[in-house]
Amino acid sequence: MKQVPELLPVRILGDDILRMKAREVEEITDEIRDFAADLVHTMYLRDGVGLAAPQVGKSIRMFAADPWWGRDTDQQNPLVLINPIIESSEGQSVNEEGCISVPDIFAEVVRPSAITISFTDLEGTRQTMDLKGFPAIVMQHEYDHLNGVLFIDKIKMLTRLTLLPRIKELERRAVDGVNIVTELPPENND
Ligand code: NI
Repeated sequence: MKQVPELLPVRILGDDILRMKAREVEEITDEIRDFAADLVHTMYLRDGVGLAAPQVGKSIRMFAADPWWGRDTDQQNPLVLINPIIESSEGQSVNEEGCISVPDIFAEVVRPSAITISFTDLEGTRQTMDLKGFPAIVMQHEYDHLNGVLFIDKIKMLTRLTLLPRIKELERRAVDGVNIVTELPPENND
């Protein structure tokens, strides 16, 4: 296993991989564990509460999340969810969402307010979690990435119209369907 996790380049809107349905992870190998460490490292360095594998160029069904960090606690408690399934959901809530792959765009999204999610952890054990509120929203947002769905697909038509020029601009910047950012946001450049 590698000792030091790497900062992974992040794919941005306009990159085809963000629109693909990711494939299942068949086995928890050392490679997957190393990748999970890189994913978690990259999530925190980009001030994210979640980061899905397709966002860093791997079209596989796994994501990192720590929706408690910076809200309920300053301690980092990253979860890595492999082959997650949203078993059930209920309620409804409206939250402003953003995404590391859709820079500078924030908009309200309506989603179920509580979910039961099952996933395989890095030890290969299947787990089930009941979540409500912000953690439930984060998990649904990340789960959507595994199916090629972005939060901007779920915003109100009127909001989408006002954001469309920015969305189109991001998409235009993609070269041959690839759109990558490697540098960190300015506040992290120390
Ligand atoms: Ni996202």
